[in-house]
Amino acid sequence: MSGVQDVTASPGKSAIVMVLAIPDYGKAKPKILDLCGKLDALVRSQLNRFPGSATGTVIAFGAEAWPRLFPDRPVPDELQPFEPIVGEKHVAPSTPGDIFIHVRSARMDVCQQLAGIISQALDGAVEPIDETHGFRNFDGRAIVGFVDGTENPTGDDTETFATIAPAKTGQADFSGGSYVFIQKYLHDIKGWEALPVEEQEKAIGRRKYDDLELPDGAKPENAHNAVTNIKAEDGSELKIVRANIPFANASRGEYGTYFLGYAGKFSTTRRMLQNMFVGDPPGNADRLLDFSKAVTGTLFFAPSPDLLADLAENG
Ligand code: HEM
Repeated sequence: MSGVQDVTASPGKSAIVMVLAIPDYGKAKPKILDLCGKLDALVRSQLNRFPGSATGTVIAFGAEAWPRLFPDRPVPDELQPFEPIVGEKHVAPSTPGDIFIHVRSARMDVCQQLAGIISQALDGAVEPIDETHGFRNFDGRAIVGFVDGTENPTGDDTETFATIAPAKTGQADFSGGSYVFIQKYLHDIKGWEALPVEEQEKAIGRRKYDDLELPDGAKPENAHNAVTNIKAEDGSELKIVRANIPFANASRGEYGTYFLGYAGKFSTTRRMLQNMFVGDPPGNADRLLDFSKAVTGTLFFAPSPDLLADLAENG
């Protein structure tokens, strides 16, 4: 199953992601609210036509868009424009985006139809910044050939880590919503493929063929799964829900990963990024970044389904 604002679902077989700009808020708002009210029915229609297609959509709003679209509402605590992260060798840039749309399904034709209907609904209200089409790569492998998502939370943990917890008394309640961080990466695929498999395995921290985790003694400190494995002060693991999307354009030689992280706390995602781009200690940056360049980076807030319905009705 999936549905509207399902930030805990698996990446799916096909996905379309769109980052949009709002040039004129006055003109755009009615169309955006109308879409927020309609999304649930649009997804249900596809699920009814294609049961088991795990079709779902998420709509999320950027830090500048939220207060301009919803001036009478509080702003989620951690919703701020993404501050770029500048390491010795690598940079995580910050790029613009007012609306983010994530469409996923077992079927690309369903993704395409939904993306088309959504775009028609927003016609004249938004301008495209980026649209990326991605696919499930073999047995869930990132485009760099390693199985991706293994250490994602499962069961009840997905909701715990992907969504905002209920608010304490007196605070604005955004529970069930999620901070969505997106980053489009382009890989130096020739350089990566020229690496011996053992070196690639050290960069990821897992074996390529069977996805086994490298034992501690064999896993370098700058392996991707070492730098992104972070803990809270009490020793408990801090996770996010990743829905990475491989994409490619063979004739252009473009091979990429659309990183898509849903989190109840953006600070968790941010710490992982800090460890990847700067390193902890500084200098221990992620080896995978030697072959991966982040070309976008934007933070959004995805309201819970209830809040989305409320926004549609009351603005
Ligand atoms: C270049 C883009 C990226 C690629 C190709 C990639 C790929 C992978 C792969 C293959 C794994 C191992 C399997 C797994 O447990 O999922 C992994 C693990 C992980 N990745 Fe990434 N990833 C990318 C970017 C990121 C970013 C930007 C973040 C966080 C902001 C991140 C967070 C994680 C986490 C938390 C894990 C699990 C670590 C653990 O074992 O505890 N990844 N990634």
